[in-house]
Amino acid sequence: MEFLTPDKTHDEARQGEALVLEPGEKNLGRKLYIESYGCAMNFSDSEIVASILAEKGFETTSDFNNADVVFINTCSIRENAETRVRNRLKEFAYAKGKNPGMVVGVLGCMAERLKSKFLEEEKLVDVVVGPDAYRDLPNLIDKVDGGQKAVNVLLSREETYADINPVRLNSNGINAFVSIMRGCDNMCSFCVVPFTRGRERSRDPHSIVAECRDLFNKGYREVTLLGQNVDSYKWSATQSADGSEQLVDEPIVNFANLLEMVALIDPDLRVRFSTSHPKDITDEVLHTIAKYDNICNYIHLPVQSGNSRVLELMNRTYDREWYMGRVDAIRRIIPDCAISTDIITGFCTETEEEHNETLSMMDYVQYDYAYMFMYSERPGTLAAKRYADDIPEPIKAVRLNQVVAKQRESSHYRLQQHVGRVDRVLIEGFSKKSDQDYCGRNDKNAMVVFPVQEGYKPGQYANVLVEKCTSATLIGKII
Ligand code: SAH
Ligand code: SF4
Ligand code: F3S
Repeated sequence: MEFLTPDKTHDEARQGEALVLEPGEKNLGRKLYIESYGCAMNFSDSEIVASILAEKGFETTSDFNNADVVFINTCSIRENAETRVRNRLKEFAYAKGKNPGMVVGVLGCMAERLKSKFLEEEKLVDVVVGPDAYRDLPNLIDKVDGGQKAVNVLLSREETYADINPVRLNSNGINAFVSIMRGCDNMCSFCVVPFTRGRERSRDPHSIVAECRDLFNKGYREVTLLGQNVDSYKWSATQSADGSEQLVDEPIVNFANLLEMVALIDPDLRVRFSTSHPKDITDEVLHTIAKYDNICNYIHLPVQSGNSRVLELMNRTYDREWYMGRVDAIRRIIPDCAISTDIITGFCTETEEEHNETLSMMDYVQYDYAYMFMYSERPGTLAAKRYADDIPEPIKAVRLNQVVAKQRESSHYRLQQHVGRVDRVLIEGFSKKSDQDYCGRNDKNAMVVFPVQEGYKPGQYANVLVEKCTSATLIGKII
């Protein structure tokens, strides 16, 4: 299921499925439809929203045409992400035309970026809610029921929704996202996230472990710990939401400590995480990954560019050599570790030679996967203020195509290394093409397809001999 790929900006949407929830009061039986765009954090937030509204009696539905409340949880990362949302809103406008009582809300990063301007630009929208204001949703819906429009885009320095038990949407009952922190303090010059998500804050580790343990007890076998920069996760006693000192067992919990705490829940619970920042990933984290079999050997380590001058303009705070040093450390400490990346082509003033350094970085690392984008200028970011978006679209596109072509070779090379090996695969369900086959992922996040065998079912692990591979999938049999 594509939904479970790490961190990335899915431009595809997923929608909530019908499920029966605890009764609430006046909203009892009202139907909520929620559609999510963007990164895994947004998908995870939609589960928090569903939970907050379930408390008030809402049920989720997978058909927006018969929904009382339609929410779209939006992404601002690139212009085309916003265009997609606006097009989708047109479809909701048509549905609302037939059902005027329908409440339409815009949530997430676009809501935060555009604030009440959204109400002027898109007439059908009734509610605009930023990522830190979801607890206010029941009040805001009340306000709309009373005939008003409603906006809450306040960002918070404390909100982590730590106490909210998310309603799992579109769940296969095996993999789940768990948010460990919110916001970002990094200010990469191209990036809108610090503006849409606010300051970085970490969630109480005890609530994270409790959520993961609860998931395990319910049969889940894989958690992905989410944050824009998980390596700067840090919890200290002074960080409680109400500002009071809290007694915690560990005075400071860093990301390596947190990984260990989650890994110790059960050896059969796989632990993934995303995203790692090259400037912050420590050897301590790498040693922790190496120490625990159930922490997957897979690191998403976005490089963005292979050239030091461009990296400086991007305000990434590392250079080419530093990044290569981190890759070397991964190879040394975790010899069999998959690495994936994000790459932006055609950033302001990038020359052909500098672009070629991105290609040579790809040769150096031989990434298992990559998410590749043309630079898209975002209003309000440092790059938009300081530098001209001066690389013409066709050149951005040529560079992107070169990067994509190289990645295709590299992914294939990495997949081929599995052929002839036995991989431990967590079975996720039937393969897309046939109910005679199961699919699941190995530790390095590669999809493996193999014939169904008696005695094995989704949620269990199987040892699979990999016999061959296609461009994106390993094929084998249980041994
Ligand atoms: N926190 C993560 C990234 C989150 S955004 C990190 O630091 O790596 C996901 C990816 O979108 C980024 O890694 C970057 O490659 C891409 N991206 C962000 N802003 C962009 C922009 N303005 N244009 C093109 N791609 C962008
Ligand atoms: Fe954006 Fe940089 Fe923060 Fe990632 S680390 S979310 S790219 S500002
Ligand atoms: Fe995620 Fe997009 Fe916001 S990538 S943090 S949903 S801008």
